[in-house]
Amino acid sequence: ASIAAVIPAAGRGRRMQSATPKQFLVVHGKTLLQHSVDAVLRDPRVEHVFIASDEQNEQAVAKSLPNISFVAGGVTRAESVLSGVLHAITQGYTHVVVHDAARPGLPAAVLSAVIDAALSGDNGAIVAMPVRDSLKRSEPDSDMISTSVSREHLWQAQTPQVFTAALLADAISEMGVEHPQLTDEASAMAYLGYHPRLVMGSLKNIKVTHPEDLELVTAILAPPGR
Ligand code: CTP
Ligand code: MG
Repeated sequence: ASIAAVIPAAGRGRRMQSATPKQFLVVHGKTLLQHSVDAVLRDPRVEHVFIASDEQNEQAVAKSLPNISFVAGGVTRAESVLSGVLHAITQGYTHVVVHDAARPGLPAAVLSAVIDAALSGDNGAIVAMPVRDSLKRSEPDSDMISTSVSREHLWQAQTPQVFTAALLADAISEMGVEHPQLTDEASAMAYLGYHPRLVMGSLKNIKVTHPEDLELVTAILAPPGR
């Protein structure tokens, strides 16, 4: 296998409400994007990183190394991912590790485990966490509980999500980059009938989404010895 990472980094960060898109915010001297790039390169099997970004903001990645390329971002996350995956295929990579720019705290052991799980077949593997809170359903435009939902066997998907590059490109193209249910790579693979494996994630791997997440990720990314 020859493995590339694809990092979707073309979002606007609407929920974050900051002037700068969240992936370009600086924590402990590096952008969140740079933290995420460094995180995926901690597994030596990852040979190259394709960053899908509208900004083409190479400034955001301080050490612009030969193993990092910027490619065009898309209107949807799926379109950004597909852009990176197609570039990876063109450059001869057989597998892709898709990882959100907004998840800078990815532990190295989690990355290695999901790559291990994905390399043993065509189904691929994703990082996920068992749901820990009780789940409630409401009706549209209501704050009243209509039903409680069992959390048994329910997982919250994170990234990385690791697949054979050609299969993932087919899956995203078939499902369509505008499909409302195409919120992660596993959804596209499932659309083609594959059953990706679940690999235990980490609370440190939070997706920076709302302003208060910045406080959490600042603690998570704190350099050791402080
Ligand atoms: N992303 C992307 N291209 C898009 C939309 C999102 O590459 N058109 C990326 C984001 O940059 C982020 C990751 O996908 O790294 C996860 O998406 P999300 O957390 O939803 O980020 P945003 O879409 O930027 O945030 P929001 O949904 O609040 O606007
Ligand atoms: Mg979004």
